[in-house]
Amino acid sequence: MQVKISEFGALLTSVLIPDHAEGHANISLGYDDLKGWEQNDPYFGATVGRFGNRIANGVFEIDGKTYQLATNNAPAGIPCALHGGKRGFNKVIWKGEAVEKNGTCGVKLTYHSPDGEEGYPGNLEINVTYFLNDENEIIWEVEARSDAPTPINIIQHTYWNLSGDASQSILDHELTIPATHFLPTCAGMIPTGEQSPVADTPLDFLTPSPIGLRIEEDFEPLTLGCGYDHCFVLDEQDSLKHAGTLHHPPSGRTLTVLTNQPGVQLYTGNHLEGTPGRNGITHQNRVGICLETQNFPDAPNKPEFPNAILRPGECYHHKTVMKLSW
Ligand code: BGC
Repeated sequence: MQVKISEFGALLTSVLIPDHAEGHANISLGYDDLKGWEQNDPYFGATVGRFGNRIANGVFEIDGKTYQLATNNAPAGIPCALHGGKRGFNKVIWKGEAVEKNGTCGVKLTYHSPDGEEGYPGNLEINVTYFLNDENEIIWEVEARSDAPTPINIIQHTYWNLSGDASQSILDHELTIPATHFLPTCAGMIPTGEQSPVADTPLDFLTPSPIGLRIEEDFEPLTLGCGYDHCFVLDEQDSLKHAGTLHHPPSGRTLTVLTNQPGVQLYTGNHLEGTPGRNGITHQNRVGICLETQNFPDAPNKPEFPNAILRPGECYHHKTVMKLSW
């Protein structure tokens, strides 16, 4: 197994696993060259931040002061700030160095996000490490500290296609998500604040189910998301917990995701149509799937959601493990 990481955007640009027929299969979506990664509208492989996912109207308030971010997304015409703004962490240059821990090699990337960058308050010092160990686990870990209170939600945004062929749909992949509840949204894809049971809905992945089985069902959250684009509620727990398992029956490949975060956004690549990719390909919709571990969308505006404000003296810590088997 081999992974590639780029200082541009702290991106995971390639995940190769052994394949009996082809030598290697590339199971994450990406581009052939830097030009592709610079454009990267779908956020392939990205380290997304300072606040990944959406903030309603791009507005939040901390300690009585209101902040306005650029609004760079508008589902159903309703504006929001998405994935860190116009030039988020996926578009900046990080400083990379080789690291080693207990015989496992990795890359540590650091970035200083200045006070006011993309409208966020506070100087933020961030480091992201990627390790690849002998258990075929990609361990992605983020630490960040700020000198002023700031919203934070840093997300790993790799798109998986376990067939190794970005022209194939992911609808045949089987998914398990150990969540009994999800966060319903308004038409603008902003959570209402409620937590709804997945029972008796197409969002029930408590037992393995093919993604394509119910994706076209007449169910309002699926219509709003143009497919799956929902945050699932994971059990609260400080240590790593299971966030989801993706299995591709034809190849026998499996991805298991573990995290210390309270949520996982399932996104089935519903807007990929027409976007470019490797080997000159133009993607269709639903040829990649993201399991984005994270805090809840719009958490800075929802006191009932887990805290998403990092304060001076505190350390933000997000750890996610992506384990491959074949
Ligand atoms: C979001 C989608 C969005 C996509 C952009 C995902 O994380 O959930 O709503 O369209 O990112 O690539």
